[in-house]
Amino acid sequence: MRLISASILACDLSRLAEEIKRVQPYIDMVHFDVMDGVFVPNITFGLPLLEAVKTCTDLPIDAHLMIIDADKYVERFAQAGASWIGVHYEACTHLHRTIQKIKESGAKAYAVLNPHTPVEVLTDILVELDAVLLMTVNPGFSGQKFIEWTVEKIKRLRRMIKERSLDVKIMVDGGVNEETMQKVVCAGAEILVMGYGIFRNPDPSSVRRMLEGIECS
Ligand code: DX5
Ligand code: ZN
Repeated sequence: MRLISASILACDLSRLAEEIKRVQPYIDMVHFDVMDGVFVPNITFGLPLLEAVKTCTDLPIDAHLMIIDADKYVERFAQAGASWIGVHYEACTHLHRTIQKIKESGAKAYAVLNPHTPVEVLTDILVELDAVLLMTVNPGFSGQKFIEWTVEKIKRLRRMIKERSLDVKIMVDGGVNEETMQKVVCAGAEILVMGYGIFRNPDPSSVRRMLEGIECS
């Protein structure tokens, strides 16, 4: 499975609906970055905009919550149209409870790890997750440079999942583009979140073609 989830944070937000339509033929999901200015040093968007995005597309929307107190909001994000919801391990004191809440709301649940957080912290809870999102930049902004050593984390997580024959998808987010795509896919990533990589590429169809054509030895 090789999917692209397009991060609208990187699009021309003054033309949001047109931007989604422009890349829609080449993507599988829409990635919605929610930042609270507390957990990360930036503030983005919330529930009303998610409702608006929902009216622009039939694609699944994945909400990446970079917020504290996610427990309070997951149900409302599901109601507003997110069919995947991700929360940060670093921001959730009771991660298991939060994951349960996401699932009870009917959405698929993923845990997110910052670059410095080892994948092994998810060893026990892995069985409960639909996906793990590995940050390949520090969360907060689009257009940052891919951190090379995170590729090793993708490989380690792939091994953990395989050893236990689990069906947990691996997502990556941050600096994923035509240049870095091959190494993350061959390391085991299946859902590629792309901001600049898709919205700032003059030819988004080429990104799709390149993804399909990747061969790993
Ligand atoms: C960063 C966000 C990303 C960001 C990705 O905190 O979680 O989703 O928009 O943008 P690029 O692909 O440009 O790094
Ligand atoms: Zn994100």
